[in-house]
Amino acid sequence: MINSTSTAARLPLREEDLDSFATLTEIIGVARGVLPTDILDFLEGGAGEERTLRDNRTAFRNWNFVPRVMTGYGKPELATSFLGIPLAIPVLTAPFGADGLFHPRGQCAVARANAAEGVASIVPEAGTYSFEVVAEAAPDAARIAQIHPMGSAEHFVGMLHRIENAGYQAICVTVDFPIAGRRERDLMNRFDRNFRAASGNYPADGSAASETIFKQLFYRSTAGWGWGQLGELMDKTPLPWIAKGVLTGADACAALEAGADAVLVSNHGGRQLDGVPAALNQLPEVVSAVAGRVPVAFDSGIRRGSDIVIALALGADVVVLGRLVAYGLAADGESGVRQVHQLLRAEMLTTLTLLGAGDVAVLEPSVLSINACRRH
Ligand SMILES: Cc1cc2nc3c(=O)[nH]c(=O)nc-3n(C[C@H](O)[C@H](O)[C@H](O)COP(=O)(O)O)c2cc1C
Repeated sequence: MINSTSTAARLPLREEDLDSFATLTEIIGVARGVLPTDILDFLEGGAGEERTLRDNRTAFRNWNFVPRVMTGYGKPELATSFLGIPLAIPVLTAPFGADGLFHPRGQCAVARANAAEGVASIVPEAGTYSFEVVAEAAPDAARIAQIHPMGSAEHFVGMLHRIENAGYQAICVTVDFPIAGRRERDLMNRFDRNFRAASGNYPADGSAASETIFKQLFYRSTAGWGWGQLGELMDKTPLPWIAKGVLTGADACAALEAGADAVLVSNHGGRQLDGVPAALNQLPEVVSAVAGRVPVAFDSGIRRGSDIVIALALGADVVVLGRLVAYGLAADGESGVRQVHQLLRAEMLTTLTLLGAGDVAVLEPSVLSINACRRH
């Protein structure tokens, strides 16, 4: 979140400046300027009184960097891979649905920007464009499809095969969404996301948008699924899968027992159960429980390149970006998302170089210390 004394206060920018944003703060400021209030609230808001939403940011500020000087390291290496997918920077974009509300090309623009910058997309089931349309828009993009455990076994397995046929490289199963969190900004805005953003994966029959299968499946509770059932069904696809929305070591181990090939530590950006801990604070517990058996991804609260360095130092292999990418999309479509990645790259390079820490692959918790100024 930017504060009131930030660059955003000096917006609007001149038209020509949109081609090259100077900072991520500037991108966020432009996005806030262009999005209508109810859509901005939908993007930025969290559940309940937004305790977890705020804690997700505060958690990063609880850490200081402990730099070493004259370490002799050259330019840090940022490239890595995740489930066999090569990445130019240790970043994937999060599945955020209703993406067409932020920009007409939505996740198609995100996937194209990602392909150009060596970032992988996690394409949402609840997205404005179908898995197939996003694949066609960016055939060279690294793509992971996100789904919810919902509907009948037949429906679910049908979706797995559909994802395979559309050429996706992995599947991300969101496990922290048995029911939608109560997002009070949306409730008070009378914001009807159902109506305003039907999913491209479940096209309306043309007569009544509210009667799509997706809404019947999704907006009813999807509770009732367990790891055993999910694991059995995921065995029916050869694609690797990620359990998204794990916050404890116990759940990470349960996901692995069900056959997950990676876990994503996430509290859904504070949009589900308000009052759960900041995702960053749960990361070390999950990393320790997983003990190197599978890669650990992290999301919730990242707004800067230095945040990524903190998450990696605490044991994440890669990070996933939600709102930051949506801001880029709203600010300037495909170009805006590319600039988010470019600015993150520049910030990561500067942070790692000043930290004297070498490459992302060798980051250790010892580059961090508790921020004593915040200790009570
Ligand atoms: C507007 C919006 C829509 C989202 N839709 C989905 C979704 O359909 N499925 C899902 O698994 N997560 C969804 N998320 C959660 C993100 O995937 C991700 O976990 C979260 O945004 C990370 O936090 P951050 O925004 O602070 O980076 C959504 C997030 C936002 C902001």
